[in-house]
Amino acid sequence: MQAVYSHVNLRKALSAPNIVGKSVGFVPTMGALHHGHLSLVKQAKSANDIVVCSIFVNPTQFNNADDLAKYPRLLEQDLALLRQVDCDFVYLPEVSDLYPNGTHADTFDFGALASVMEGKYRPGHFQGVATVVKRLFNAVQPTRAYFGEKDYQQLAIIRALVNMENLPVEVIGCETQRETDGLAMSSRNLRLNPALRHAAPAIYESLLNLKANHHIKSLEKARTKAIEEINSHPNLAVEYLSIVNAETLQDITHWDEAKHARACTAVYAGDIRLIDNIALY
Ligand code: PAJ
Repeated sequence: MQAVYSHVNLRKALSAPNIVGKSVGFVPTMGALHHGHLSLVKQAKSANDIVVCSIFVNPTQFNNADDLAKYPRLLEQDLALLRQVDCDFVYLPEVSDLYPNGTHADTFDFGALASVMEGKYRPGHFQGVATVVKRLFNAVQPTRAYFGEKDYQQLAIIRALVNMENLPVEVIGCETQRETDGLAMSSRNLRLNPALRHAAPAIYESLLNLKANHHIKSLEKARTKAIEEINSHPNLAVEYLSIVNAETLQDITHWDEAKHARACTAVYAGDIRLIDNIALY
């Protein structure tokens, strides 16, 4: 695996005669890699000649300086994991490489897609995500790019970005990888103390219960019950739990719309914010 530290050197490396013309799979990450990330790399490996993974903690997508400062940074461990799954290139840009004119996000209009859920509770977050992903795509010029369904709204935003900007890349959504007790894998799980880690699987359990609760006629009642279930754990507090159309991400109100719906939630475990979602179909 070759490590590359600037977009200029990445372009040079990917323009080498033995690489040019080959398909490139790209997995953007912020590091602190776990099996969720590695499953994306493996999927990219299986469908492309070359795989590039980027590790970059993107400052413009954090709306809280403390969250940015506390984001885990585990470079040596990350590199060892990427070697294990045979990643070909790891791109490790400096902030100035992606933000030569200052760490500001560009402006994109994602309309209603970005005004709900994460967009509502983390203002500016998706502007930062879209800015960095567009710049990373420009540096890597991938054939296919891999994103996890764990960040379901982010995946929808990336698809919208690619459409809006006519970017020549195929976006592939990948299934959420979970711990054996159901907790969605996340770099933030590293910050959970034993009590919080013990409580956290209740998030996915409640989503599964919601999915199974078709006998509760009112979708709103089923939604409220799921929120109550999660909040009944002293260490957990729901920020939102929305049942939305899987494409538009707008709230649905009846079970008969659930054939193409997703339940998405953000929950504080202590002061650590976790997100998860489930298909209702
Ligand atoms: P990060 O949180 O590091 O996630 C990188 C990719 O891994 C994302 O596509 C995310 O959805 C996926 N992922 C995370 N946990 C997963 C899990 N349990 N199962 C499957 N996939 C999982 O998402 C970001 O970084 C950033 O916003 C980024 C896109 C890199 C832009 O900065």
